[in-house]
Amino acid sequence: MRDENSATGSAREALQLDVAALRAETPGCRKVIHFNNAGCGLLAAPVLDVMVGHLNLEARMGGYEASAARAAEVREFYTEIAALINATPDNIAFAGSATHAYANALSSIPFETDDVILTTRDDFVSNQIAFLSLRKRFGVRIVHAPDAPEGGVDVEAMAALMRTHRPRLVSATHVPTNSGLVSPVARIGRHCRELDLLYLVDACQSVGQFVIDVEEIGCDLLTATCRKFLRGPRGSGFLYVSDRVLRAGYEPLFIDMHGARWTEPGGYEPVGTAARFEEWEFPYATVLGSAAATRYARKVGIEAIEQRTPALAARLRDRLETVPGVRVLDRGPRLAALVTFGVEGWQPQPFKAAMDARGINSALSFREFAQFDFADKGVEWCLRLSPHYYNTEEEVDHVADAVADLAGQGRR
Ligand SMILES: Cc1ncc(COP(=O)(O)O)c(C=O)c1O
Repeated sequence: MRDENSATGSAREALQLDVAALRAETPGCRKVIHFNNAGCGLLAAPVLDVMVGHLNLEARMGGYEASAARAAEVREFYTEIAALINATPDNIAFAGSATHAYANALSSIPFETDDVILTTRDDFVSNQIAFLSLRKRFGVRIVHAPDAPEGGVDVEAMAALMRTHRPRLVSATHVPTNSGLVSPVARIGRHCRELDLLYLVDACQSVGQFVIDVEEIGCDLLTATCRKFLRGPRGSGFLYVSDRVLRAGYEPLFIDMHGARWTEPGGYEPVGTAARFEEWEFPYATVLGSAAATRYARKVGIEAIEQRTPALAARLRDRLETVPGVRVLDRGPRLAALVTFGVEGWQPQPFKAAMDARGINSALSFREFAQFDFADKGVEWCLRLSPHYYNTEEEVDHVADAVADLAGQGRR
């Protein structure tokens, strides 16, 4: 079992990446300093080629005919994602976004009035809104586990709430959108397995950045996008559905002719695999691009990515910590490659625009993305910088210098 609170585990060997070669294969690296991988990673050339190739094929031979011609490659989406997260292809459903995967998963749970959803104060904004919507429609109760003093959820307190409330669903986000926190999802999962509770994990920011093992996490359902640290195309994501959930007969509320067979005028039967959570229509170029991006990430090596990517962020955080007027906001025993900070004397949009003007891609987070976390930190907004393995130490230092320069202007 890997140590969830350690960035590098115990005695893990240092893995090297050929960063120059990886950058040469990433056209965006020649144009921008891309520190918005938590928004969307830069596509690698082989991924782009696969997608453009498929669009050309569709144009030449017809969309249905092109997907039939590429059926074997389409299947690779499932084998690649399964290999990435230690699952089997039948447990994987393609989704157009992580949010769509998450909503579909939630829709499969037959919530009743007073059922409890147990979650954390760091669960992703759209998940929290979905819970509130379920509360409005079905009268479910939402319970938030408290945080530990060092940041992130207090797992033992969460486990105590599991025993008291016997929640219908336990939900946690591995890495939130608004800070570098890494939640101990496998420790939470051990309690869920012990108590036989349904467990849904949002791994949107961690897939492609960390080794993800659904067996180790002990989740029943896991959602992610392919466009962030996995460097896949926009409009792609997936849902992992465990055998336990499939066998128990969970199915999305609006199951279609791909997820089910209309076996008689008055009845249908869901298919046996996670395809139950998909729809008939697929953006095939995107599916193929996602398969190619996953293959690419696995070839680069997820363990090597897991070492380099948060280490670049840590270097940036260390630099920013020393800049007058900058307040680094990330808290928790282990941090991911999302660096968040506030800057004295600046409003959010002008600050981001000033970074844009220097050719540095970044993102803003606001209080309404993180009602609990930003209230605790007493901030209304932050800038988020999220490097990836193809960024360089020189870029990190350049970005830190740019922030320092702008922060100096804010203090004048
Ligand atoms: C933690 C987390 N979960 C879910 C999502 C939603 O992903 P998507 O935009 O693919 O629906 C995001 C997007 O930023 C995220 O950061």
